[in-house]
Amino acid sequence: MPYVYFQTFGCQMNVADSNDIGERLFTHGFRSSDDPAKADLIVVNTCSVREHAEQRAKTRIGEYGRLKKQEAQLWVIGCMAERLGESLKREIPEVDRVIGARSLEGIDEVISSVFPDQNVDFKGIEATDEASEFVSVIRGCDNYCTYCIVPYVRGPEASIPAAIIIDTIRKKAGRGVKEVTLLGQNVNSYCDAGIDFPDLIRAVAAVEGIKRIRFTTSHPKDCSEKLIRTIADEPKCCRHVHLPVQAGADRILSLMNRRYTAADYRDRISMIRSLLPDADITTDILVGFPSETDAEFESTLALVEEVRFTAAFMFAYSIREGTAAASMSDTVSHELKHRRLKQLIDVQTAITREIYTGMAGRKVRLMISGRQEKRDRLWMARDYGCKRALIACDEVPAGTILQADVVRTSGMTLICERTAL
Ligand code: SAH
Ligand code: SF4
Ligand code: F3S
Repeated sequence: MPYVYFQTFGCQMNVADSNDIGERLFTHGFRSSDDPAKADLIVVNTCSVREHAEQRAKTRIGEYGRLKKQEAQLWVIGCMAERLGESLKREIPEVDRVIGARSLEGIDEVISSVFPDQNVDFKGIEATDEASEFVSVIRGCDNYCTYCIVPYVRGPEASIPAAIIIDTIRKKAGRGVKEVTLLGQNVNSYCDAGIDFPDLIRAVAAVEGIKRIRFTTSHPKDCSEKLIRTIADEPKCCRHVHLPVQAGADRILSLMNRRYTAADYRDRISMIRSLLPDADITTDILVGFPSETDAEFESTLALVEEVRFTAAFMFAYSIREGTAAASMSDTVSHELKHRRLKQLIDVQTAITREIYTGMAGRKVRLMISGRQEKRDRLWMARDYGCKRALIACDEVPAGTILQADVVRTSGMTLICERTAL
């Protein structure tokens, strides 16, 4: 029986793709391995969003090339595979196959041609004890933010038919999955024969066995009131909106082709806060975009102080060949970009701490995800926002929802006790 080892870089869509491909490999007779040196197939799923992400993936692929069994296959798939194509084989000769993000549909044929006649003694996939899984609902992106490589490596936007999504989620629920996270670069542009994203959320909520729904990402330009009202009305929906702002100055937002102003963004935040007062709002911010001035960076800081995001992913601009921003002049120096990034991280980290500390004494509803392997062997969980929690309680299956009291916080974790009934 052949063994496959997976290494996944990048966003949640890559995690979803790796899981899908894993499932297909299992039906071809593969088993999963946690040791690349013993695997018959090593699959590295890659990301191209920043230079650093590509460098890390290349280093790792080189390592696998050296340690793999001689007859084992090394496949590089995903976004960097799409961007660099066959040139990756010249750079790292141990690579056997390069399968770009836009060709993953055809991976079944590649599997059958490279690993023919597997002795499949079971049909179906390895059982999972994961209570929460990702489901891609819309692929690609049409927005062409000027800094971003995603539309080039992932291709144009395409909504997956709702019937297929619901069928996939029913199957997951049948295997014991309790929570799904619906994924897209811009879930709000989901559209399948008149079914929009809020309609899709309702349909997913109706699937028996699914207890909780998350989604990401919402583009601020089309985060609608209908969406926020749907979250407010649908008890299975988590109270978490990830709404990447990227920058606080209108000139920069316009150069980025984000198609909203800082005022539009603030209006969206007010709408969310009034309809969903207890929601966690999180964001992505990019500093050091070409020609960003000190004053423009200060506008980003001011917006961050004002909105008080529960958390943020913060990045220094990384030039991506072929994008519109790559040909913009007046680049911000490496030192300045990184000084701004550090300053922003300091401001946001203090806010995140305050928000977590303010949770002490509050009641939360948690979904259990599993048990810590080491340390105190507490149960790991997430609340209905984006916060992680730890709780001491009796043996409970993953996916259990329970009421808890936050007794204290530790960094970005809520330390909870089960509410006495
Ligand atoms: N679709 C999502 C973002 C996906 S990429 C959205 O529109 O918000 C995730 C994040 O990576 C982006 O939000 C951005 O902050 C960051 N990012 C994208 N391209 C980048 C680049 N060239 N350099 C640095 N960060 C980048
Ligand atoms: Fe990239 Fe913009 Fe598309 Fe997000 S919306 S994936 S940042 S182009
Ligand atoms: Fe995701 Fe990176 Fe591709 S962020 S879509 S894996 S470029």
